[in-house]
Amino acid sequence: MSIEKVGVAGCGLMGSGIAEVAARAGKDVRVREIDEAQVEAGRGRIEKSLGRAVKREKITAEERDEVLGRISFTTEVEALADRDLVIEAVVEDLAVKNELFQALDELCGDQTIFASNTSSLTITDMAAAVNRPDRVVGLHFFNPVPVMKLVEVVRTIATSEETFERAFDFAGELGKEPVAAKDNSGFVVNLLLVPYMLDAIRHLERGVASIPDMDKAMVLGCGYPMGPFTLCDFVGNDTTLKIAEIMFDEYREERYAPPPLLKRLVAMGRYGRKSGKGFYDYSGDEPVPLDVG
Ligand code: 3HC
Repeated sequence: MSIEKVGVAGCGLMGSGIAEVAARAGKDVRVREIDEAQVEAGRGRIEKSLGRAVKREKITAEERDEVLGRISFTTEVEALADRDLVIEAVVEDLAVKNELFQALDELCGDQTIFASNTSSLTITDMAAAVNRPDRVVGLHFFNPVPVMKLVEVVRTIATSEETFERAFDFAGELGKEPVAAKDNSGFVVNLLLVPYMLDAIRHLERGVASIPDMDKAMVLGCGYPMGPFTLCDFVGNDTTLKIAEIMFDEYREERYAPPPLLKRLVAMGRYGRKSGKGFYDYSGDEPVPLDVG
């Protein structure tokens, strides 16, 4: 039974990307945001991204309109009741995610699978809060969602084989490459990537090299598409801090501990690209490294 009706809860950076790729794959997509202002911001993100795809001649203007026609927007959680799959991409807060899934648990039919795009919380903590733990799975996408090929498909000890297979096949239908992961905080990618990003910040604190030189070193020395500080600013320093806090709480290992500099940047609102400043200043044509020492 393939998944055709998709619900996406939360239309920020990740939710808008997920809604876009699902609609581009021909799915009937319904996006839920908390208020009209967030709906409009989410719609704008999707339109901008599709506009970029038209400009780059990946899709035609007609295809863009068809894709947009497959996405409906709502502020009502009830409007997700008929979905085959609901993917949550709301804030990285277990209480918020569980409140949403508990409401959906009452509303949705037995066939509905619940998926979380969490970066670092465990799927088990969400599955345990609803009456359908066998139909709860992780579908972890990467930023920018339309570009990055990977989806981590995460099963808990309670996820049924059928749920896992349907979620795995769904990721493939979106044109992604799914990999299976066990339910541990950080799955595969963040388990390896987060300590790397945090280490870069720790080495910056120690004065090993400058921000642009450390970025240049990893791009030219390892062929990474972005250096660690450009990546931190791209992911969002607030997001990385939140992920690090959750992973440190889970493992109690130093490698996941958020470095003081990351906390100071977030306290000052230096989230990275989205706020205009992070390790770099994005107000001009080219990013300019900032003195954060
Ligand atoms: N939306 C849609 N398409 C985008 C895009 C966006 N936001 N940004 C770039 N693209 C597309 C471009 O259209 C272009 O497509 P084309 O070559 O087919 O025409 C292609 O991506 C390359 O873009 P650019 O030439 O403009 O720029 P780059 O070559 O620098 O690529 C990048 C941009 C794809 C973002 C690349 O730098 C990259 O792969 N960076 C690393 C990203 C990464 O590591 N993501 C994972 C973050 S961790 C995460 O998400 C997990 C979470 O839990 C924290």
